[in-house]
Amino acid sequence: MIMKMDAPTAHKRLLKWVEETVELCKPDSVYWADGSEEEYDTLMGQMVDAGVGIKLNEELRPNSYLFQSDPKDVARLESRTFICSPTPEEAGPTNNWEDPAVMKKKMLNLYEGCMRGRTMYVIPFSMGPIGSSISQIGVEISDSAYVVCNMRIMTRIGSAVLDVLGDDGFFVPCLHSVGTPILKPEDDVKWPCDPVNTYIVHFPEDRMIWSYGSGYGGNALLGKKCFALRIASAMARDEGWLAEHMLILGVEDPSGNKTYVAAAFPSACGKTNFAMLNPPAEMEGWKVTTIGDDIAWIKPGEDGHLYAINPEAGFFGVAPGTSDLTNGNAMGSLSRDAIFTNCALTDDGDVWWEGMTEEVPDHLIDWKGNDWTPDSPTPSSHPNARFTAQARLCPTIDPAWEDPKGVKISAFIFGGRRMNDIPLVFQAFNWSHGVYLGATMGSELTAAAEGTVGKLRQDPMAMLPFIGYHMGDYFQHWLNMGKNLKDPPRIFHVNWFRKGPNGEWLWPGFGENMRVLRWIVQRTAGAAGAFEGPLGWMPGYEDLDWRGLDFSESEWEELMAIDREKMKAQSLSHEELFLKLFDRLPKEMSLMRELLISRY
Ligand code: GTP
Ligand code: SPV
Ligand code: MN
Repeated sequence: MIMKMDAPTAHKRLLKWVEETVELCKPDSVYWADGSEEEYDTLMGQMVDAGVGIKLNEELRPNSYLFQSDPKDVARLESRTFICSPTPEEAGPTNNWEDPAVMKKKMLNLYEGCMRGRTMYVIPFSMGPIGSSISQIGVEISDSAYVVCNMRIMTRIGSAVLDVLGDDGFFVPCLHSVGTPILKPEDDVKWPCDPVNTYIVHFPEDRMIWSYGSGYGGNALLGKKCFALRIASAMARDEGWLAEHMLILGVEDPSGNKTYVAAAFPSACGKTNFAMLNPPAEMEGWKVTTIGDDIAWIKPGEDGHLYAINPEAGFFGVAPGTSDLTNGNAMGSLSRDAIFTNCALTDDGDVWWEGMTEEVPDHLIDWKGNDWTPDSPTPSSHPNARFTAQARLCPTIDPAWEDPKGVKISAFIFGGRRMNDIPLVFQAFNWSHGVYLGATMGSELTAAAEGTVGKLRQDPMAMLPFIGYHMGDYFQHWLNMGKNLKDPPRIFHVNWFRKGPNGEWLWPGFGENMRVLRWIVQRTAGAAGAFEGPLGWMPGYEDLDWRGLDFSESEWEELMAIDREKMKAQSLSHEELFLKLFDRLPKEMSLMRELLISRY
């Protein structure tokens, strides 16, 4: 066992925590991740030798690996996610809460001896460019080599982080175990997890994360949702900034002007696609560049504007539906040095998923490890199958993506998956109306979380599963942020997912979303037309650039139609959420609602 003297740091609090965790979890050995390529190759090699991961064909997909999870461990588990603030009021009615003392006791029992037979990895990581004043440091302790390798792509890990941390720097301790000690050889399974005892727990006051029982995505890569959203949102409230479930992209217009926007869509609702949008060729001179695809940390600068960084270094993107046609830039990012989870394996050792190519392979090994043919009754990849890809490999990555200052945000976009009511795009009348639009956002559930796919739920700012405190306070925080800005970003609402009477998409989406984005960017500069509708400012048919797309005015009318009766009914579900939050709901929200109803 590597003991304390071998630790590559003199940080007292870190060393003490590592020692205590060794005593508690009783691993066979301790390993401090240095973040090097050799280390990555060694860990991957060990997992391949153990039959845990599959090395893909070096020619077709260099330096890439496929993992297949336990079928019971395939997505985030919101029902097992807890915000353990001192009182239930602080977590609010939209979060699961448990008394921190009770939860700690329960989890200490689970952690007792949980790493027997395994290596305990200590992974120092930076969210944001190492050393930037906006960045934050965390240390994840995990008994999963798969987690170490994913963290190396998704964040910046290793010795360089310890150097910045020094002897007494602040870090967020993140403890993770798959919850499966190896007591006998049979315990050493391909994808260890403990679905019965899974807990993803946050202690916002302690700025601490404890996760147990799952090895998948946001449950296990603790820098992502747990730190960069749930814990960071609580830090942001205390310190006057925003931690949001948002992509960040840059738009360059034909004259070379650059505008940055941040957009919040719920899980598996098109953030990755929008962040890497490939504009239609006919819209000559318009270009999109990528800063991030999932999380934004946004701070007011001294000039009174908002500046955003992407705290991550990689993409953990939904694989099914990703293709050269829908997102060629994501395909470029995952062309090498990638990790795939729950995708299918082709006969020549590459990955495949539903929608990747028009032609479906004759034979595959599906995500459960079974033979698969086009006649098989189930999809070859899990609907929440993911790729882990390096942001720097993205063909559209913005030159400023690691700028420690961040990029100036001119617009926020909120959007959901709404089959049958919300129009393609509209603009809020002002900041507080924009906050209201975000607060009353709804979206149909996807496979990225547990629950009935397609069921409509209120998902304010796409943050329902990710706010680390009371949602009413979160709305208030958004309102306050706007008050202190010089020229607050304009706020928009989009819906790419409206369907016609026969279930067909009314809007072609993907690259064609550039037409909407162009209008949005021009609106932020006061350079595009709009008319006043009940929901907000809306573009007329003539306000969009239609070059290269055959889309008639009557199709447009259908896409932009507002059914006043349906909207009235909608505002009832807003009221339901507001009632839940009533004791901490900012009065602006109720006033906005009254005004909205008066406009129908
Ligand atoms: P998380 O990583 O879970 O936070 O999600 P994300 O928002 O990054 O999801 P992603 O971009 O991977 O969304 C994938 C899903 O959205 C796929 O089912 C796509 O087919 C669908 N999608 C993305 N953009 C569009 C669009 O413009 N139109 C339509 N109809 N579907 C889209
Ligand atoms: C999401 O569910 O919003 C994701 C994937 O981005 S996960 O990291 O698993 O949370
Ligand atoms: Mn996400």
